[in-house]
Amino acid sequence: MDKVLARGSGSPTARPRPRTALLSAVAGVAMIATTVVVASSASAGTTLGASAAEKGRYFGTAVAAYKLSDATYVGILNREFNMVTPENEMKWDATEPTQGQFTFTSADRIVSHAQANGMRVRGHALAWHSQQPGWAQNLSGTALRQAMVNHITQVASYYKGKIYAWDVVNEAFADGGTGARRDSNLQRTGNDWIEVAFRTARAADPGAKLCYNDYNTDGQNAKSNAVYAMVQDFKSRGVPIDCVGFQSHFNSASPVPSDYQANLQRFANLGVDVQITELDIEGSGTTQADNYGRVVRACLAVSRCTGITVWGIRDSDSWRASGTPLLFDGNGNKKPAYTAVLDALNAGGSTPPPTTTPPPTTTPPTTPPPTTPPPSGNGCTATLSLNQWQGGFVTYVRVTAGAAGTNAWSVTLTLPAGASITNTWSAQPSGTSGTVTFRNVDYNGRIAPGTYTEFGFQGVGTGPSGTATCSAS
Ligand code: XIL
Repeated sequence: MDKVLARGSGSPTARPRPRTALLSAVAGVAMIATTVVVASSASAGTTLGASAAEKGRYFGTAVAAYKLSDATYVGILNREFNMVTPENEMKWDATEPTQGQFTFTSADRIVSHAQANGMRVRGHALAWHSQQPGWAQNLSGTALRQAMVNHITQVASYYKGKIYAWDVVNEAFADGGTGARRDSNLQRTGNDWIEVAFRTARAADPGAKLCYNDYNTDGQNAKSNAVYAMVQDFKSRGVPIDCVGFQSHFNSASPVPSDYQANLQRFANLGVDVQITELDIEGSGTTQADNYGRVVRACLAVSRCTGITVWGIRDSDSWRASGTPLLFDGNGNKKPAYTAVLDALNAGGSTPPPTTTPPPTTTPPTTPPPTTPPPSGNGCTATLSLNQWQGGFVTYVRVTAGAAGTNAWSVTLTLPAGASITNTWSAQPSGTSGTVTFRNVDYNGRIAPGTYTEFGFQGVGTGPSGTATCSAS
């Protein structure tokens, strides 16, 4: 809406601003108003966001809510970026400072600003050892596990439909050569805390991409190998994960790795998107610019690298301000690094990479291959898989059609005493405890012969497992 055409960006390849799909979407009404202003992303080829969009990617920045009253800051933000990550405002200490009492005021300012200006939002971060409120730092065991599940459920539900991708779990692996998990209060609740976090996030907002995010995983090393093995395991077991974030905080002690692109590619080959989530590179001048150019080219060379986020706008906005690691100087002027990024984004013209369109905002839950053969007759079968932890559970139900397929189906099961359902997705439950019948929703009643669909539910207490009664019509 208030995008400004940036001139003199140093780009030799400025192209005319594109007419967007939005125009055709409103064409029936808008065409009569010849002065209608097209709500486009930033101008093609002359801003980071528009140039990234031409390559089927986004270009984002971390945003601090309190800076949204700084005109210089907002001017650059609105002109250059089409994705934002709240720098601190969605973290546990910010959103649940007192247990069970949620405050979204600062995060909402950022989300509203993004929505009003055609930007998407990366949510950051649901479960992390750092920036926990004091009350959570003091919890352990079941109480902490339940608090984590509740936190993820509440925050992801509150922002349901508004988040492109969530950093569900942040920084869960240790540095160094062991490939071990990082010790933390969350880790001490049990090794399954990460998959529980992902299942919980999927249940709360099935449309958001769910990412694992970390640092010192940007090249191949023991830590990234351990994350790789976890993602591979999650994919093989149907734990919902859609993307891996590479923070990419670089400086002379931690330079851009020589195998950066290869590392992004090997993760992408596992069937997840990869994203550069917190990019900053300390330095200045040509050296810094060259490093930024390398990072951008690496992302563009990996078709599932869906976007790049820098961790702040001006050097003075950076969490590492003394290292002047960003694309704009303290006065908001473009640095050589900015030009290197824009040139890298514009190189090779506007053809999107072969297999990359902007990623769909909704990904169905991944499902493992069927382990039971489909029933040979009519009707359907329902098999349950249970993820249980002390005090809570997620149950996935696979509904497999018989030889006739289904037009509609229902699954009936009985919850153990004391259990109750708090959240169901992809089915409509008749109740929350005792014997519950789940009916298909609009889009998944029809199952082709021998194939299956899945729904799931989350609850407190002990969850059901085994099989359930399935009827089809
Ligand atoms: C940083 C913020 O930029 C600072 O403002 C805050 O004081 C500490 O956190 N990895 C992450 C980010 O995932 O959330 C961190 O952000 C930087 C390191």
